[in-house]
Amino acid sequence: MTRPGSHRSRGRVGVARLLFLLGGLAGCASSIPEASEPTPAELTLAIYTEEQATRGQRIFTTVCAVCHGRNEFVGPIFTLTWQAEPVGSLFEHISTTMPQDRPGSLSAAEYASVVAYLLQLNGRTSGEEELPADAELLSRMRW
Ligand code: HEC
Repeated sequence: MTRPGSHRSRGRVGVARLLFLLGGLAGCASSIPEASEPTPAELTLAIYTEEQATRGQRIFTTVCAVCHGRNEFVGPIFTLTWQAEPVGSLFEHISTTMPQDRPGSLSAAEYASVVAYLLQLNGRTSGEEELPADAELLSRMRW
């Protein structure tokens, strides 16, 4: 539903979020993110654990590899398609459309593990914390 006020109220939310972000950064950052493009500044680097990636690899091998080769998830085409977006885009895509013969048949944690495996496959650094199985959190994380 579109109402005349809807544009302006969205703008206010945007400003509030930006102020919140700037407030949070004020203590530790020397450079202020560009006001014109707040979204990239909001993204934090995605972190996963080795153990989670290993679980993801197992799922990939048993579920996804029936139709996909690992090579489809590395290289320039994969980079251009998915790494320009937050990690959440890939998570949402696979959790709603894959496996193609049974979409949504894995748990959120299993989809997150597969994404952790794909981060590992792309040379991303693992850490102490698991990649969250939460589309909203993942939509604020970058590759
Ligand atoms: C039954 C076969 C099948 C299985 C199993 C399957 N896929 Fe797919 N997948 C496809 C087909 C076919 C496409 C291309 C058409 C489409 O996007 O629906 C695709 C597309 C994709 C894409 C988009 C490719 C791109 O970059 O545009 C991703 C990502 C993906 N699959 C990931 C997975 C993951 C991860 C799994 C395991 C959880 C999985 N798929 C399981 C058949 C499958």
